Amino acid sequence: MVEENKRGSFGSNIGFLLSAIGSAVGLGNIWGFPYKMGKSGGFTFLLVYLALAVFVGFAIMLGELALGRKTGYGPVNAYKAITQKKGFRWIGWLAIVAPFLIMTFYSVLGGYCIYYIAINLIGLCTGTMPDSSSFGAMLTNPWLSIGIMVLFMVICFLINLGGVDGGIEKFNKIGMPALFVMLVIIIVRAWTLPHASEGLKFMFVPGYAVKGGFIEEAPGVMSVLATAGGQMFFSLSLAMGAMITYGSYLDKGENLPKNSVIIVIADTIVAIMAGLAVIPAAVANGIAKGIPVGDIKLGGPSLLFATLQDVFHDMGAIGGIFGTIFYILVLIAAISSAISLIEAVSVTFIDRASAKGHETNRAKVLAIVCLVITVLACLVAADGLGSNGIAPKDIFHIDSKADWCADWLDFMDTWSEGIAMPLGAMLMSIMIGWQIKPKALYDEIGSGYKGKALGFWSFCIKFICPIVMFFVLLVQVSSFFGLGWF
Ligand code: PHE
Repeated sequence: MVEENKRGSFGSNIGFLLSAIGSAVGLGNIWGFPYKMGKSGGFTFLLVYLALAVFVGFAIMLGELALGRKTGYGPVNAYKAITQKKGFRWIGWLAIVAPFLIMTFYSVLGGYCIYYIAINLIGLCTGTMPDSSSFGAMLTNPWLSIGIMVLFMVICFLINLGGVDGGIEKFNKIGMPALFVMLVIIIVRAWTLPHASEGLKFMFVPGYAVKGGFIEEAPGVMSVLATAGGQMFFSLSLAMGAMITYGSYLDKGENLPKNSVIIVIADTIVAIMAGLAVIPAAVANGIAKGIPVGDIKLGGPSLLFATLQDVFHDMGAIGGIFGTIFYILVLIAAISSAISLIEAVSVTFIDRASAKGHETNRAKVLAIVCLVITVLACLVAADGLGSNGIAPKDIFHIDSKADWCADWLDFMDTWSEGIAMPLGAMLMSIMIGWQIKPKALYDEIGSGYKGKALGFWSFCIKFICPIVMFFVLLVQVSSFFGLGWF
């Protein structure tokens, strides 16, 4: 049983990189980034996003990886090991609660992907392609939604059970290149649809969202900044314990700054590529059907499971092939993120047991973590994005249009992405920048690295990150609770 007690590690740097990129590349890239980019200023948004990714994303990513590798622990124990200050030692728990809550809806969305692969395959075989009406039918069928969510959780559980190198790394080494190839296939198909260029203009031309009739009013500067900031740290899997955990599995000889840069760049490239695939297709199909562009749903779950399914439906029999490829691609993105979230939650209990000298049974911890997530996810699944009358606002008779009570998915998202993530990232940068001081991590960052990024990193983590994250926190609270501060 000695093997079971051993902490895992990545077998190679490329395995680590693909796993970290896998964690970053997720539903946030596919349905969040392209739409937010189009709506919030096209190319201008991209520049703002890149600046934030360089000054904040890179700095927090490097901080998390260094924290994990230096302490050799997941989030909770890493904070305990690095700081003596009581006020900071609890932050790690935020990085447990957040991924746990995210998993309660990520698993439901992952389940939807499995279902969509199935209906597209069936459509391919029978020649009758499903359309967007499948979405409503699925949402209003709680048992179906629960069943596919459980299936998704079982798949993730089995991958995590395989261990860090035998499960997570293996999956990502195959999954990430496959995702890339499939994305290219979908881009080529999307671009050859008539009117596809309207979608590209929406995404890239500054101000085209308003000019082209996609939205009525251009968002203000503050709102663009906040949208980019929120998207950036969710997309990069920051403040979720995931990168601390993966860092703790990384060999001491590997170059952390270089790895951080690669993860940030790869995640951004995939987000743009996802946009190049989904937006032109959705817009082209909408225009061909005579739908006013302002009414085409270009973001959120309905982009993936309604708008795009109509695109595949309208392609005829061949749509089954593209539909199947597309939903497999989204499923891979969802799984590679989910397994990092499950690992981030589980590692804490594995580490705690071994720190106390107890036998740690990875399988048992994973089973319990996955089971608890599954139980809570049943609520999100049965709710069907608020379709079945059990949303928080229905149960508690709340008369509000705010996101936090609209449905259980948004409720979980509010406390995780809306509050725990920005709060955690802000407190982490304050702790590294002002309490333990950046120098405390210099030796860690320096091992395997001889460049001059240390000064730049210290400056970002001390000054830029806390300010930006405080601002992102305010905006998230305002938007999730419908307070209209910005
Ligand atoms: N980065 C993932 C996405 O873009 C979500 C995620 C957040 C995954 C935090 C792990 C940790 O969808």
